[in-house]
Amino acid sequence: MASLQEEINKRKTFGIVSHPDAGKTTLTEKLLLFGGAIQEAGAVKSNKIKKHATSDFMEIEKQRGISVATSVMAFEYRDKQINILDTPGHKDFAEDTYRTLTAVDSAIVVIDVAKGVEMQTEKLVEVCSMRKAPMIVFINKLDREGKDAFDLLDEVEEKLKLKVVPLSWPIGMGQRFQGVYNLYEKKLNLFRAHSKQSQDEVTVIEDLEDPILEELVGEAAAAELREEVEILHEVYPELDVEKYQSGDMSPVFFGSAVNNFGVKEMLDCFVEIAPSPLSRETEERMIEPTEPKFTGFVFKIHANMDPKHRDRIAFLRICSGIFKRNTNYLHIRQAKKMKFPNPTAFMASKKSVIDEAYPGDIVGLYDSGNFKIGDTLTEGEILHFKGIPSFSPEQFRYVDNADPMKSKQLAKGLDQLMDEGVAQLFTKQETGRKIIGTVGALQFEVIQYRLSGEYGAKCSYEPLNMYKACWISWENEADLKAFLKRRAKDIAKDKDGQYVYMAESAWGLKTVQENHPEIQFHFQSDF
Ligand code: G4P
Repeated sequence: MASLQEEINKRKTFGIVSHPDAGKTTLTEKLLLFGGAIQEAGAVKSNKIKKHATSDFMEIEKQRGISVATSVMAFEYRDKQINILDTPGHKDFAEDTYRTLTAVDSAIVVIDVAKGVEMQTEKLVEVCSMRKAPMIVFINKLDREGKDAFDLLDEVEEKLKLKVVPLSWPIGMGQRFQGVYNLYEKKLNLFRAHSKQSQDEVTVIEDLEDPILEELVGEAAAAELREEVEILHEVYPELDVEKYQSGDMSPVFFGSAVNNFGVKEMLDCFVEIAPSPLSRETEERMIEPTEPKFTGFVFKIHANMDPKHRDRIAFLRICSGIFKRNTNYLHIRQAKKMKFPNPTAFMASKKSVIDEAYPGDIVGLYDSGNFKIGDTLTEGEILHFKGIPSFSPEQFRYVDNADPMKSKQLAKGLDQLMDEGVAQLFTKQETGRKIIGTVGALQFEVIQYRLSGEYGAKCSYEPLNMYKACWISWENEADLKAFLKRRAKDIAKDKDGQYVYMAESAWGLKTVQENHPEIQFHFQSDF
């Protein structure tokens, strides 16, 4: 039997981040095909939230049922167990997406060659950077015309603040796309538009001066490639795996996911360099994955929309030791022992009950309302995992009770939905009014619908022009008191009772920051 250390070394747990339409679903599917986890293209795609329905939240909610199955997709490749955590992304993406990234050890960033770095990618990469998660960049859709490859690298460095090192380089693009040259393995990979291709056709070219290059791609393209590679060697450093693993360097690959081109190249590099489960910080001490005792935390809760089955699935990331079925573990926040008869693993769209799980694995626990995001489970030691923050919402509305007879139901419903991480609730200190903050506007409708369907409560919203919720920190209690007094009308508390400054505009926030250097402002709750 494999030792705990061997099981840990085998595992690579990561997420794919991108702006909608860049090709995340397509790439995921190709990765699963390589792992033999699915047999045909289209298997993941059909689970995807349909684009045309993004404004119809009922449709999205219906599909959430399906998307549980694709929340985690595991497959084996070259003796590694790879866990892909799906980061749900549609126009109105939710905080869920950010939170999932707290459970990964690394990420792959997909960028559309024509569109370059887009908004959601920026936000998601920021979350990964905060944790110094190693990132590999895949520039997709080279079979279409797009931006110049050098310009794209500059854009990635500038907008995503990643230090890049290209490991492959495109030869033309769009109609003229001939393939990529793998700078790392010195191999030429010629493009063939074929989605079922499982093996790229590669030619080893140790020396780019070799005339075989002309034979394969023609004179003009050969000359261009030679010139560009020379520039690359001058401008970009060599790959340094340690720097990549500490989040200080990001390899870049070019390809076309839909044609399954350049994907294997990236996957082979990924399994070689991507980190296995790492140590994790708790408020009390560092936890090493190799510690024999099990620890883990809940990073996502998925509720069933069907009011007849009000069950939820809590997603647990294993951080150390071996998680075992039907074994008593301590739920730290509730200070009670719990055991789980049906923990579920997700093997690419199939769910199955498991007996054991290892660091890096994600298990689904059936939950009747015991968990909230960030909860820690251990064998008995009192620990609290760090780094599972709330992020400042982007859309805010006052929420009011629309049915005076149902105020209890409303309070309970809001409480539970907030535990699930659907949105965040802030209470204005001066007026006691409640504000709901979400990442995407759709979430407001979801909340209204679920409050009525599941809790029999009605709420109404009042628009609110707000820029960000800023968690604050301070050194000196007297400073805090003075600040709270001076800014009383903009102070709220979050669900856990932490003080939050509600900034109306970026400009307003800047002024307040300048006027109050004694107070620090943060866009997330964990600082
Ligand atoms: P997402 O999950 O990031 O939202 O993107 P998804 O994979 O769904 O891809 C978005 C669209 O881009 C899809 O087309 C997909 O086929 C296409 N695509 C993905 N990779 C490539 C590529 O390398 N080259 C080109 N030319 N297109 C690519 P669609 O028309 O929206 O969907 P479908 O009808 O093809 O399924």
